[in-house]
Amino acid sequence: MVKICCIGAGYVGGPTMAMIAYKCPDIQVVVVDISVPRINAWNSDRLPIFEPGLDEVVKSCRNTNLFFSSDVESHIADSDIIFVSVNTPTKTRGLGAGKAADLTYWESAARMIADVAKSDKIVVEKSTVPVKTAEAIEKILNHSSRDGVNFQILSNPEFLAEGTAIDDLTNPDRVLIGGRQTPEGQKAVAALKGVYAKWVPEDRIITTNLWSAELSKLAANAILAQRISSINAMSALCEATGANVSEVAYAVGKDTRIGPKFLNASVGFGGSCFQKDILNLVYICECNGLTEVANYWRQVVQINDYQKLRFVNRVVSSMFNTVSGKKILVLGFAFKKDTGDTRETPAIDICLGLLGDKAKLSIYDPQVSEDQIRRDLTTSKFDWDHPQHLVPSSPTAKSKEMVTVTWDAYEAAKGAHGICIMTEWDEFKFLDYQRIYDGMEKPAFVFDGRNVVNPDELRKIGFIVYSIGKPLDAWMKDLPAAPLT
Ligand SMILES: NC(=O)c1ccc[n+]([C@@H]2O[C@H](COP(=O)([O-])OP(=O)(O)OC[C@H]3O[C@@H](n4cnc5c(N)ncnc54)[C@H](O)[C@@H]3O)[C@@H](O)[C@H]2O)c1
Repeated sequence: MVKICCIGAGYVGGPTMAMIAYKCPDIQVVVVDISVPRINAWNSDRLPIFEPGLDEVVKSCRNTNLFFSSDVESHIADSDIIFVSVNTPTKTRGLGAGKAADLTYWESAARMIADVAKSDKIVVEKSTVPVKTAEAIEKILNHSSRDGVNFQILSNPEFLAEGTAIDDLTNPDRVLIGGRQTPEGQKAVAALKGVYAKWVPEDRIITTNLWSAELSKLAANAILAQRISSINAMSALCEATGANVSEVAYAVGKDTRIGPKFLNASVGFGGSCFQKDILNLVYICECNGLTEVANYWRQVVQINDYQKLRFVNRVVSSMFNTVSGKKILVLGFAFKKDTGDTRETPAIDICLGLLGDKAKLSIYDPQVSEDQIRRDLTTSKFDWDHPQHLVPSSPTAKSKEMVTVTWDAYEAAKGAHGICIMTEWDEFKFLDYQRIYDGMEKPAFVFDGRNVVNPDELRKIGFIVYSIGKPLDAWMKDLPAAPLT
C-alpha cells in the first residue's frame, strides 16, 4: 500500500489530503502537524476549518485510510510520498522583510525529513514557495540525510479556493506537477500523477519543470489579484463619473477574451495568499534586477490598500466627518463567504480604520468566533501567518471596550448609526432591513463593501446607502472621495 504523509494540517493540507484518501482507498494518508489542538480538532466532531462538504469527505474515510496525528517523525519515516503544506509567511525582519517568504517552517520540515528518513522519498512542495525553493530543499535533504537515501523533489502547488475547496478538489481546472527533467525526476512525476489520475482526467494533469510549476502558482495568484484590483480601480472612477461598476463589469466580461468571472468590485481582496504571494513575487523580481516588473506587481497591492482606505473615508466623511463614539454594525468578518478564515480579511483594516476614529464596533459573522476577531484586531501585521499556537495574542483593554462581537445581527443593529457589509454572506441579502432600520439612529447608513444589497430598496426604507462603484447617493455626492492622508 502506498503511504502518503502530509506535514501541515491547515486549510490546504487538511482538505487536499482528505480528498486523496477519499478518492484513493488503496492509499494510506496521514496528516501531521506540530499543533496538537489542530490535530485534536481534525479528530473531533468539530473540524478546525469550515468548508462546505468537508465534514462528509473527512468523516467517510477518517480512521480507515485517513489519519491525523501529531507524531510527525514516525509518520514521515514510514511514508513513500511526503507533502509539505506548512505556512510560508511574509518575513517580518532581516533581509527582504515585508516582502520575501519566510521559509523557517519549510526548512524545519525539510530538516525533519532528512533526519528521520531511512528509505527513498518523494517530497512534494504543496505550500506556495518562491521559485527555486526546490533547489534549497534539495540541498538540505541531500546534505543532511543518511547515506544511500535518495530524495526527489516535486512542486505540486495547490489551486483550491477557500469556500469552494471540496468542489475545486473534486473537479480541478488543472493539477500541476513540476519535477526534475531526469529519469528519476520523471519517475517521481509519474508516481504522483498516478495518484491524481485516480479521479482527475489525464488532460487536466499538467507536468512541467520544477521552476515553471513553482512560478505558475505565484503567477496565478498575482493575475487573479490583479483582476480584482483592476475592477476596484474602475469602481473609484465609476463613483466619480456616475457609471455603475456592475454594468461595466458585465459589459467587459461579455468579451470572451476577458470572461465574466472574478470581476466583482469590493472593499478589497483578502485571504492568506494574494498579498503574501504578490509581495513575494515583487521580491523575486527585485532580486533578479527587474525593478519595473516588481513595481508593476506592487501596484496591485497598493490599489487594494487604497480601496480599503477609500472605504473607511467614505464611512467617516458621510457621517459628518467623525465616527467617534458612534456604534457601527460590521456585517461579516471572514475574507469571503463560506469560510471562517479571516487571514488578511479587509474587515481587519476597515475595523482598525474605524477604531482609529474612535467608533464603537459591533461585529457579526456567522462563522468567525469572538476569540478570532479579537485576536485579528490585536495581532501585528504579518504575525498572523504562523502556526496558531505561536501567534502572540493579547487583546488590549481598548479592543474589549470598543468592540463587541455578537451572534444576532438584529440585536447588534440596535442604536447603531451605520452598517458596514464586509463579507458577501448570502444571509446578508435576506435580512429584514426595515426591522434593522427601525432600531437604528437616524440618519441610518449602509456602506456595502460587497455589493450584496439592493441600494434602491434600502433607500426606499430610508437608509443612506453607499455601494462600491455604484452611482452615489445624493448625500455623498460632494463629499471627498479620495482617502484622507
Ligand atoms: N489557504 C489557501 O487557500 C491556500 C491555497 C493554496 C496554497 N496555499 C499555500 O499553502 C500553504 C499552507 O497554507 P494553509 O492555508 O494551509 O496554512 P495553515 O496555517 O492553515 O496551515 C499550515 C500548518 O502547518 C503547520 N506547521 C508549520 N510548521 C510545521 C512543521 N515544521 N511540522 C508540522 N507542521 C507544521 C502549522 O501548525 C499549521 O497548522 C501556504 O504556503 C499557502 O500559501 C494556501
